[in-house]
Amino acid sequence: MPIISFKKPSSHKSFEVIKGTPLMKALLGQNIPVASSCHGEGVCGKCKIRIIDGHSNLSLETQLEIDLRNKNKITSEFRMSCQTLVLGDITIDTDYW
Ligand code: FES
Repeated sequence: MPIISFKKPSSHKSFEVIKGTPLMKALLGQNIPVASSCHGEGVCGKCKIRIIDGHSNLSLETQLEIDLRNKNKITSEFRMSCQTLVLGDITIDTDYW
């Protein structure tokens, strides 16, 4: 199973997730906070997560995600966690952890 790790290991412990789980769902399932005001509907753009390592272990960006990033001026180092499936090991970070 894929492992989600954190840039700042002191913030949260690494954990395993079932392949194909949305990143946001995986994090919330571990009681790790994810910013959101649309509850994963792909509208608010607040759920961005910085991918430190493992970009290729995530699902490809959908047009909805690309549009969200462009609209909110979010660079490609971030993924919209509600729209992104975890397919392999990744290391992640946010400004608020
Ligand atoms: S939670 Fe709103 S866009 Fe992801």
